[in-house]
Amino acid sequence: MLEVAGVTKGAIRSHYDVGTLLYRWFWGQHIHHGLWRGAETEKAAQLQLVDRLAGLAELRAAGRVLDVGCGMGATALHLCWQYHCHVLGITLSGVQSWWARCNRWGWNLPGQVEFRMGDIEQLDWPPCSFDVVWNIECTEHLFDKAEFFRKAARWLSLGGRLAIAAWLARPRSSSAATQL
Ligand SMILES: C[S@@+](CC[C@H](N)C(=O)[O-])C[C@H]1O[C@@H](n2cnc3c(N)ncnc32)[C@H](O)[C@@H]1O
Repeated sequence: MLEVAGVTKGAIRSHYDVGTLLYRWFWGQHIHHGLWRGAETEKAAQLQLVDRLAGLAELRAAGRVLDVGCGMGATALHLCWQYHCHVLGITLSGVQSWWARCNRWGWNLPGQVEFRMGDIEQLDWPPCSFDVVWNIECTEHLFDKAEFFRKAARWLSLGGRLAIAAWLARPRSSSAATQL
């Protein structure tokens, strides 16, 4: 269980409620880092990371995806459009869930994508509800990561995949760049 003074759900929610406009200006529709193979633009590298994870997760048409920490919804919309999945996006931020719902306009994806505001650590679904539980740069925010992994395993169908992109540093890393 993560316990850091001052880091509360309310603080995380406020960060994204207030900061989303700035992220949109400076980072674009996605609030995650990129995967660079060459001299791609930031936007292309962000999408490349999504597509790389989608490949590893073996996304399939009509697959049911839970996007944990869906931000402004850009990844969920891309997965629906590109891979023909059905995506439920959850974000702690009310501003982001509103933004994500607005973002649906203009994409012709009736009934394929839904966004809700909620704390993933307080939510639950019946077993086998999803084929992929997807999480880009949100596990860092979770207070009880072990419990999240237990619940995600339960939500997944037989053969389901948990797809995670996260910031990690090896414990006792010798690299100064990864030491706190
Ligand atoms: C760095 S952003 C990543 C957003 C999105 N995955 C993307 O790649 O654009 C982290 C996201 O996690 C969400 N988040 C943080 N804690 C959460 C929680 N307990 N439940 C649901 N979402 C949460 C935030 O609201 C935010 O949308």
